[in-house]
Formats: sequence, structure tokens, C-alpha cells
Amino acid sequence: MKDIKALVRPNILTLTPYSSARAEFKGKAEVLLDANESPFDNGHNRYPEPLSTDIRNALGKIRGVHPDKIFIGNGSDEIVDQITRVFCVPGEDAVHALPPTFGMYKVAAGINNAEFRAMNLLPDFSIPVSDLKAGFDERSKVLWLCSPNNPSGNLMDAAVIEDLIRSFPGIVVLDEAYIDFIPEASFLPRLDEFPNLIITQTLSKGWGMAGVRLGAAYASEFIVTMLRTIKMPYNINVLTQAVALAALSEPEQMEERVGILKAERERLERELGKLDIVDHIFPSVTNFLLVRFQDSDSVYRYLLGKGIVVRNQSYQPNAANCLRITAGLPEENTRLLEALREI
Ligand SMILES: Cc1ncc(COP(=O)(O)O)c(C=O)c1O
Repeated sequence: MKDIKALVRPNILTLTPYSSARAEFKGKAEVLLDANESPFDNGHNRYPEPLSTDIRNALGKIRGVHPDKIFIGNGSDEIVDQITRVFCVPGEDAVHALPPTFGMYKVAAGINNAEFRAMNLLPDFSIPVSDLKAGFDERSKVLWLCSPNNPSGNLMDAAVIEDLIRSFPGIVVLDEAYIDFIPEASFLPRLDEFPNLIITQTLSKGWGMAGVRLGAAYASEFIVTMLRTIKMPYNINVLTQAVALAALSEPEQMEERVGILKAERERLERELGKLDIVDHIFPSVTNFLLVRFQDSDSVYRYLLGKGIVVRNQSYQPNAANCLRITAGLPEENTRLLEALREI
């Protein structure tokens, strides 16, 4: 059993968090004169509930996880920064990641002055396990694993993930932002097996609520307590909490739309495969495809001229001449295919 406490930054371990009015008084009162709020009821004159308890209860039910093991962030972007801050002593500790992958791991390391140790994924975007492990040492505090990975779209091998969780000397974060497109691959049912595991998910992708900004981290109660210790007192606003809660009560709508997007991704894959300008389509389990073109820059510019924007990934390791294409509405995807056929 790893000593997780020993991995936390010493000043965070002993930090007394800010005690907000809403956190201090948890009961029901008729007259609220404790938070210097405005008394005029407009639906958002009061501070939000600090721990997003209703959302944690709803997510806990959907995911089968106790709400005390759930931390809610202002998008999983915020959680990436918070995890880095809890575990990395600035100027001393290191995080590990496997490019090409989600860019915020590196940015959060930069903000927090943690060393960013990059080990590129192999050309098929699988993990070079022994090379990665060779870089682990006593300064290794966080390992970012993204599965399914952005921008490649593939799942990482479950046995490799398990091996890395067991062998990494620090905290392994499994970023499951795209897991709603392949829920059967989630590690969440196994969370309790691994005291050094944090799983992050988001409402931004399958749930269709990128504008709402709501992400979740699933981990041991101790790790959740540490994340709560450093969070801003009211990080999830009342509007976000209300909109997210309403959407979480209708998982059927999410599942239906995920089904449509998966079918669209398969159609895109099929149709793109018929075009001479396409060199390779990387297999994806998500709502996007990484596609290698013969000349990605000219394709990118041509599409832009047609009013269609995709993401250029050519600067990323093992992704030369690659564009990342998100599955849109069926008619949008048809428009994309027509534009590409014209080339
Ligand atoms: C792998 C991955 N993780 C996290 C995020 C950020 O999600 P959120 O909108 O919850 O901040 C993204 C967004 O593109 C992503 O691709």
C-alpha cells in the first residue's frame, strides 16, 4: 500500500482551507444574514453550495461511486491544475506525460513550476512502457494517462494501465474525458483497488455541456479532501450546478446523442478512407478522428476557405500531416466530405 500522504506537498497537507459562510453553516435557516450577500431574490443572489453536493450525489448514482469519493471542478481543466498543485513542490517535483496528448498537463506543470517529463507514444499511439518506467524516480509525483487519448482517439491497453498504476511511485491520473463514447472501458469500477489512482471525467464531451464547465475527479476520500483543501470556496457557480443537475437527470438523451456521434464517426471513417488525399485514419473510439493527409496544410486551408475548421495536429509527435476532425451533426459531416471530395 502506497503512502499517499507522503506524496502531498507538505504545505498543502497542513493547510487550513478557507472557511466560507455556506460551508460553516450547513443547516436550514429562514433568515440568511451571514454571507454579505444581497437579500433580493433573483435566483442567483446567494453563494452556491460549496461542495456541489447535489451533483456529486447524481454523478455518484450514475457512476456507482460514493459521493465522498467525487470532487467537482470548473471543467476538468481546473482539476488538472489542482492535482498538479496538490502533489508537486514547485521547482522540485516532476510530472510525466505521453505526447501527443491533451495539452493542459504541460501547461499546468509550467504554471506550477513542475518539471514536465515527456515520453512520446509509439507510432501506433501505444505506451512505450519500459522507456517510460526508466524515467520514474523519487521526484515523480504525477503520471498523466489519457484513455481514450486526445488527439489520437485510441484506448490505452488496460493491462498496461494497471501495471503503470502499480509501478508508478506517485499519483496516476487517468483522464477519461471521452469515456462516454466507450463506457465499458472505464476504470471507475476498479477505483478502490488503487489508492494512488485519480480518474477524471467531464460533462464537456458525451454530455454535450462544454459551455457549462463541469468536470469530476474520482479518487479516495483522502485525495478528494486534499483537492477540496485548495479549491476556491465557490468554484462551481449556481447556474452551472442547476444546468448540470438537470442534464444528469436525463442520461438517456446523452446516450442517444453519443450513439448518433459514434455512427457519424464510423461514416466519416468509411468515406474518408475512399479519398486519395487521405494517407491514414487512426482507429478511434471517440467523437473525433485523427487523419493523416498527404498535405495537411493545404487541406486545412482549403476547408477553412469553405467555412469548415478542423484542428491541425501536425506539430505533435508522430502526427505529421495530421488533422483532428470532430464528428459534427450529420449534415455538417456531409458538408465536410463534399469539400474534401472536391479536392
Ligand atoms: C483529454 C481531455 N481532458 C480534458 C479536457 C478538458 O475538459 P473540460 O472541458 O472538462 O475542461 C479535454 C478537452 O478537450 C480533453 O480532450
